[in-house]
Amino acid sequence: MPGVADRVVIVTGAGGGLGREYARLLASEGALVVVNDLGGARDGTGEGHNMADTVVAEIRAAGGTAVANYDSVATTEGAQSLVKTALDAFGAIHGVVNNAGILRDMSFPKMTPEAFEAVQRVHLFGAFNVTHAAWGHFREQGYGRVVMATSTSGLYGNFGQANYGAAKLGLVGLMNTLALEGRKYDIKVNSVAPMAATRMTADIAPAEMLEKLPPEQVAPVIGHLVSEECEDTGLILVVGGGSVQRVQLFAGKPVLFSQVPSIDEVRENWSRITDMSDAQPGVNPAG
Ligand code: NAI
Repeated sequence: MPGVADRVVIVTGAGGGLGREYARLLASEGALVVVNDLGGARDGTGEGHNMADTVVAEIRAAGGTAVANYDSVATTEGAQSLVKTALDAFGAIHGVVNNAGILRDMSFPKMTPEAFEAVQRVHLFGAFNVTHAAWGHFREQGYGRVVMATSTSGLYGNFGQANYGAAKLGLVGLMNTLALEGRKYDIKVNSVAPMAATRMTADIAPAEMLEKLPPEQVAPVIGHLVSEECEDTGLILVVGGGSVQRVQLFAGKPVLFSQVPSIDEVRENWSRITDMSDAQPGVNPAG
């Protein structure tokens, strides 16, 4: 049974919360895990070895195999060094779970360019950096599994999270193209929007809701998506509290104009344009 046994998987931001659960489950299934974590606070400030080291110690105590890495995914050099950690320790890289994340919530009028950029750097550039550093190895061996951590804040919006939502839906855009480019090399790229009680959500969601969202409930879906058995690519799944739900973009029936319409003609057709009753899964007309 192939699963993830002997597969080398990097889990970014695996020093706590969801990443820790992903790393522990993968290791318990025989994966060789690189536990990456910068070890900072929720807003991305600070750093340290303790978080990643603790998870590696837990995995080893349970009989699994893991090494720690403390690089920031937010830089190209950090991501290259992270992939090198996998290659040096285990001689290969088969999977990347782009899980590392930070929060800098503020309402849009108060949002600073620094807060906007810092969040893109960790989530969007972080996933780009690590996946890009691993991609050549995936292509060469004709095998790779990538998971993006997206969010319902990106898929649907959430007050105070313009920076985070933009980064999280950016990851879906990145996935869409990588899913296409990876197809002929058996590289599968999927996205999971988790819902879990972690330090990230501790003061965001109500306590009674968080009680029903233990992070270990998300991990088995990640386990499937990084396994050899995963045949899908380009999926978005919302996962948490015992629920696994696929989300997809749908497109309404096109309204066709034989010549450039006037603004009034656009308005006259507005209810048809916005009608989704005959919607079908969206496809790229250029693809
Ligand atoms: P968390 O704060 O416990 O975990 C994030 C980890 O990433 C931390 O351990 C942190 O030290 C690490 N990290 C931050 N910046 C880093 C960097 N530059 N390089 C390496 N590591 C870095 O939060 P949680 O909830 O476990 O989040 C995991 C992922 O799931 C994040 O991408 C988050 O946006 C996403 N997510 C979580 C949701 C939830 O309900 N908990 C909801 C939607 C998305």
